[in-house]
Amino acid sequence: MTGARFHGVRLLLGVCGSIAAYKSVYLVRRLTEQGATVHVAMTGAATRFVTPLTFETVSGNPVMTDLFSGPPNRHIELAEAVDAALVAPATANTLARHAAGIADDALGTLLLALRGPLLVAPAMDGGMWDHPATRANVDTLQARGVAFVGPASGPLASGLEGVGRVAEVPEILDALEAMLADVRVAASMAGEHVLVTAGATREHLDPVRFLSNPSTGRMGFAVAAEAARRGARVTLVAGPSELPTPPGCTRLDVTSAADMADAVRAHVGGASMLVMCAAVSDFRPAVRHPHKVKKDAGEGHVALERTEDILKSLAGRTPEGLVKVGFAAETEDLLAHARRKLVEKDLDLIVANDVTQPGAGFRVATNRATLIGRDGSEQALDILPKARLAALILDRAVALRQSVRPAR
Ligand SMILES: Cc1cc2nc3c(=O)[nH]c(=O)nc-3n(C[C@H](O)[C@H](O)[C@H](O)COP(=O)(O)O)c2cc1C
Repeated sequence: MTGARFHGVRLLLGVCGSIAAYKSVYLVRRLTEQGATVHVAMTGAATRFVTPLTFETVSGNPVMTDLFSGPPNRHIELAEAVDAALVAPATANTLARHAAGIADDALGTLLLALRGPLLVAPAMDGGMWDHPATRANVDTLQARGVAFVGPASGPLASGLEGVGRVAEVPEILDALEAMLADVRVAASMAGEHVLVTAGATREHLDPVRFLSNPSTGRMGFAVAAEAARRGARVTLVAGPSELPTPPGCTRLDVTSAADMADAVRAHVGGASMLVMCAAVSDFRPAVRHPHKVKKDAGEGHVALERTEDILKSLAGRTPEGLVKVGFAAETEDLLAHARRKLVEKDLDLIVANDVTQPGAGFRVATNRATLIGRDGSEQALDILPKARLAALILDRAVALRQSVRPAR
């Protein structure tokens, strides 16, 4: 059973008073066949449609119908012990009760005490589904993170046609699998602190003129967004960018390479991953004029000096186990330059991209990159949306955290 789809998953199945309750008997069969342990709770109305004995037999576990029989704290223990809950079929009444936080029976109490995610498969007459009260309850539950599967359109038990038919068993199983996968992803970087740099820097000649590059910050913002989605604490050090701050990220806006270096130095001590996506200026005007340089100042030359190398400036400040990921945006000899940078900057992984290629580099939503590891491995990727590339980079960084370096 180890390879089964729901291997090891402990599930609470709530069954409500609908003619569709019999379908949940098949649902329990499929779930247990595929490795899940299922604990069923039935509403009083549900027991009028299918007997608790039927569910007890197919699940192999006692069925909860009454809060006041059986061990006194069973509802809390069960709600905390399961990985997820599914209510199928979910009646209009039970959706309303849960939206309002009412715990007047075993299922209502279990759902309020639940720690894990909840999927509901509504079943009802089309008029009940369309009623403004049900619409508002569905909105409330969705806003709270409850996942829905169905209802589908088709012939209803009322004899009418419409939306309200409970989703079919395979569809419910797919939705459950997707919800469990989301939960795993959301927890996969819990405990990590990811420090991300993004965008261009600006090196001012005077208050209104600067040296910069066309980086928009999209790649770095995509990395920050994905790390936050996976449960990491994220600090995003951003050069000037119009992009909105991804949910769950702490953003520090900076202008110059020196500001960015200061921000990275201030936060790297608590980080477990450093992802340097920013296109940092290598040069800055040697003199910054306090006022706008007038055109009658002549055709003069702008003397440049090197900006600080952010990674080099971190020497002695990086915590043990820090995974360092850099980017090499090049216009020629991509892989050779990237490999040299990987070594010189003591990176664990470098994302090499040729910014002259169509669909890669600055100002586009996609990127084509080769990931080069410290171990010399090369992973050449197709053109991908930046969000997808961000996910692959983080997969590699997570693997590096787990294997190459000691976990913190
Ligand atoms: C034959 C029959 C079928 C029913 N089917 C549904 C249904 O599919 N969806 C629904 O919301 N209510 C349905 N009801 C009404 C519910 O059983 C009723 O609202 C009940 O109070 C729901 O209680 P519960 O949410 O605690 O299970 C049906 C009632 C009968 C008599």
